Amino acid sequence: MSAAREVFGGGLAVVTGAGAGIGAGLTRHLAGDLGMTVIAADVDARAAHRIADELGERVVPRVVDVRDPDAVDRLARQVAAEFGPVRLLINNAGVEQFGYLWDVSPANWRRVVDVNISGVFHGIRAFLPGMIAAGRRGHVLALASLGAVTSLPLQAPYIMSKHAVLALTECLHQEIAEIGADIVVSAVLPGLVESDIFRSAGGVESGDVAAAEEHRKTMLAIGEQAISADEAAETIVAQAARGEFYIVTHPELVHAAMAARADQLVNRRAPVPHRSRFAAAE
Ligand SMILES: NC(=O)c1ccc[n+]([C@@H]2O[C@H](COP(=O)([O-])OP(=O)(O)OC[C@H]3O[C@@H](n4cnc5c(N)ncnc54)[C@H](O)[C@@H]3O)[C@@H](O)[C@H]2O)c1
Repeated sequence: MSAAREVFGGGLAVVTGAGAGIGAGLTRHLAGDLGMTVIAADVDARAAHRIADELGERVVPRVVDVRDPDAVDRLARQVAAEFGPVRLLINNAGVEQFGYLWDVSPANWRRVVDVNISGVFHGIRAFLPGMIAAGRRGHVLALASLGAVTSLPLQAPYIMSKHAVLALTECLHQEIAEIGADIVVSAVLPGLVESDIFRSAGGVESGDVAAAEEHRKTMLAIGEQAISADEAAETIVAQAARGEFYIVTHPELVHAAMAARADQLVNRRAPVPHRSRFAAAE
């Protein structure tokens, strides 16, 4: 039996942003291969139902906007009442944003902060107390990114949000250790994985619209070298089962980015402008 099946098999998982990309890959792997019951939470009702229709009764679609703390609380209460304790919580929902920082509208800035950062926080505050109280081993994953350990122009809100998710998750890991709860906390730092994220990314309405859209095109082109969401899901869940803190889909790429960042910080070097570290590192 695989370690992932031993740790997660037959348990209950909650995946936010489960309707597309990595979330859908995770849902497929957890429900299809590991026999978990998966609460597939997504703001897009059609996407949530599509993944449930694809996988059958083990996947329970729920329409939830992770930006809304009350909605996430309600979800947690319903899940506890109907299904019992959660073994695996994956705060995965996230959105991209392209364009020079000064061209980004306040609404698009808030969208990134609210989904990518506050959404993770809302998931933790809604579900973690129940998981701790259950007194059984539980796992909490947050989707950061390779972007959490580097920086790039024309994606500042997104990159900033992923640094925040990584920092938040590192703090959470220490807090769980401090109270001695049996919860394994992990940060996921994927490289490029097939998904809708660049197509559905925010752009800019004024200022240098062309630069934002040129960057979207570049990312979409690089995205063609992405690994599949199913492959990413399997490697993410395997590392979670082993209790890894930093979970990666592209180990060499992430290691190179971490080493470059460590060198930049230790030597107090200014960031080097780079059109696309993803491209350069491949
Ligand atoms: N795809 C990649 O290459 C990549 C790389 C690094 C990190 N990530 C991270 O992985 C996560 C998943 O991204 P993806 O690429 O699969 O994206 P995606 O766009 O394919 O899927 C994201 C899903 O989240 C849902 N969603 C968006 N806003 C939501 C909200 N407010 N509430 C609930 N659900 C919401 C969308 O409807 C969609 O189904 C994100 O956090 C992203 O930043 C992705």
